[in-house]
Amino acid sequence: MIRNDDLETLDPADWDEFRQLAHEMLDEALDMQHDIRDAPAWRPIPESTGARFREGRPLDGIGTQAAFADLRELVLPHPTGTLHSRFWGWAGGQGSPTGMVADMMAAAMNSAAGNFDDAASRVEAQVTQWMKEAMGFPEAASGFITSGGSVANLIALAAARDAHAPEDSGRRGLSGGPPMVFYASSETHSSMHKAAKMLGLGLDAVRTVPVNDAFRMRVDLLAPMIEQDRARGLHPFAVVATVGTINTGSVDDLEVAGEVARDAGLWFHVDGAFGAIAALSPHTAHLVAGMSEADSLAFDFHKWMFVNYEAGCVLIRRHEDHTRPFTTSASYLAPLPRGTAAQPDPGNLRGPQLSKGFKALKVWLALKDHGFDRHGRIVWQNVQQARRLAEMIDASDTLERVAPVALNVVAFRHRVSGLSDADADEFNRELLMRIQERGIAIPSHTIVHDRFTLRACIINHRTRMEDLDILVDALESIGREVLSEMGGVGAERG
Ligand SMILES: Cc1ncc(COP(=O)(O)O)c(C=O)c1O
Repeated sequence: MIRNDDLETLDPADWDEFRQLAHEMLDEALDMQHDIRDAPAWRPIPESTGARFREGRPLDGIGTQAAFADLRELVLPHPTGTLHSRFWGWAGGQGSPTGMVADMMAAAMNSAAGNFDDAASRVEAQVTQWMKEAMGFPEAASGFITSGGSVANLIALAAARDAHAPEDSGRRGLSGGPPMVFYASSETHSSMHKAAKMLGLGLDAVRTVPVNDAFRMRVDLLAPMIEQDRARGLHPFAVVATVGTINTGSVDDLEVAGEVARDAGLWFHVDGAFGAIAALSPHTAHLVAGMSEADSLAFDFHKWMFVNYEAGCVLIRRHEDHTRPFTTSASYLAPLPRGTAAQPDPGNLRGPQLSKGFKALKVWLALKDHGFDRHGRIVWQNVQQARRLAEMIDASDTLERVAPVALNVVAFRHRVSGLSDADADEFNRELLMRIQERGIAIPSHTIVHDRFTLRACIINHRTRMEDLDILVDALESIGREVLSEMGGVGAERG
């Protein structure tokens, strides 16, 4: 028979030594954030380090000290770059030191969040309650913390689909009925297309509404499209509008889009992954007018709420719509009146996950520490910084903006003459990669009007005004360097 002396555990053999090592790691984590302005925005991973990541699996552990040394040497020098004051890529945020501590404490508690009678469920309920209030949703609405905007969009679209699908579709699936379709602009995020595929609707279910010159949905075309589709035998079920499109930060007219959806009896979903947070500033709240009337809203905490990766949120106006796609009956999960399983509103009925980490803690702690109003002020700060960057680009002889700045995204490119469009695109691609590789800044890229475009999405509580000068100087000086290598002839305003 196995005896206690034979038993193994993963707890440290020497707690004092472990405590010392863990404290060193905590110091390192804090230094990383404190000293971030002096670090490069991004560092390519050298081949010697890359090789270490191809080593085989450790059958015998190397011990805490050696494992932590590998962490320090191989991993910590190579974050994505989101911490940096000049990270303006995609739609990433920095997180905060408070969020970091919360994540560490959540890992310490190791709660399986959402399904049990524990602090994790209470914290999530409180956070979603706060967000309903901040976004103007009714108190009775349902809220759920997700991994991010993609899953929030997926859950909202599942709720919309099931609210409009034939009654027995939960059992029989969607086959047989008329094809269900929804409306979203050509600037809608790829997560909506993914959701359409994952939900069995198919890509053809995304009826693409063109945009105007400001990259906003042509809401005037919505009603006629819905009418025509109905006449063709399709089954329209939702309109999806975006606050803060990924390419240019444009904001759809939510009031009109919502009205058209309601008049046509369709679900109205708003993807506000980062843009919804504009609701927190009195200077930008008007941009999201109509958002609070939506049937569902998706947004992220890890973007413009500056919560450490990962955490997003979906709000759904009616609780029964939220649970419909996820309701199953599992005897082992049925709530009990008391004890650990006493959770009357289990999270596994509001999303695809059963086990879930305690993501809500970092949102809760950061919001308690910083408050909603400080978040609103930083949103406005970032919008003003985007406007300043746009002015600098407009004043430059070599740079040109390709879209209006509706919120916090500046889309632009370096002008070139004497090169074909394809070479000019290649030039801008090379320029961007050099700026990133040299650790100067991290703008990102996209395609606007079929041309390679650089974009700075200013979601950054560390950006200072001089960071914008550093970017513009680098675009101009490295631009000259690449141009001379590619044989372009100048970039004067033409
Ligand atoms: C408009 C929009 N929707 C959805 C998403 C997806 O969010 P996540 O990356 O959190 O899954 C993004 C991400 O940038 C986005 O910008």
